Amino acid sequence: MTEVIIALDFDDPENAVDFAHKIKNETSWVKVGLELFIRGGPEVVVRLKQMGFYVFLDLKLLDIPNTVSGAVSSSVDIGADMLTLHILGGEKMIQAAINAKNRTTGEKSKIILLGVTLLTSMDQDDLPWPDRRDTGEIVCDLARRAHTLGLDGCVCSGLEAGRIRKMTDRDFYLVTPGIRLEPAKDDQKRVVTPEQAQASGADFLVIGRPVIKNADPVHALREIKKRLTRNSEKFQ
Ligand code: C5P
Repeated sequence: MTEVIIALDFDDPENAVDFAHKIKNETSWVKVGLELFIRGGPEVVVRLKQMGFYVFLDLKLLDIPNTVSGAVSSSVDIGADMLTLHILGGEKMIQAAINAKNRTTGEKSKIILLGVTLLTSMDQDDLPWPDRRDTGEIVCDLARRAHTLGLDGCVCSGLEAGRIRKMTDRDFYLVTPGIRLEPAKDDQKRVVTPEQAQASGADFLVIGRPVIKNADPVHALREIKKRLTRNSEKFQ
């Protein structure tokens, strides 16, 4: 089943929590990213957990192994259910993250560690290094490494999810941001519709602005869920 994660990209924790109350009956997953976490800290994660949400802590860790190990342990302690780290951090950093996860016990040990491939806001022109491969190949290469090294899944766009699904296990989570209901002129470049992401095998769709900036966010989210249900019925 494809789940929707709503990105609570708010600069005020109170607004984020108020918004979470509005969508409580429509989704069980929310994402806390850098903007909200820097303002609201662990407390906002704890409050969302107390409301019954699963919390995706999208901190996109990239640091030395010892620091990332500590950051994973801290994220586990505050109750995060899902956490991101950059695959570009390399094998030792990723191993340190997995070891930190494996040191935890009970419910909290189920935290999902996701490797970030290439941000969905980037295309060939945005690469910081010259590379003859297209973005799809680079993303698939990073995803393969994440899978081999033992991460639980990766973040990719819906454009690459199908290829990654074919080369990994069914239980390797594919999480796709860059979801747009219609063409939009913003910073996201590798975008697909919810239906395309679902058909590509994505397990979780991360959706921010198309819902949180909508005049009627609950209606927008219901419409997305309806579209996903209709789409999945086509394949049954
Ligand atoms: O508003 P929009 O739907 O573009 O939000 C997408 C969310 O997904 C943002 O919170 C962004 O930080 C996050 N994200 C992303 N690309 C990644 C990883 C996370 O857009 N590779």
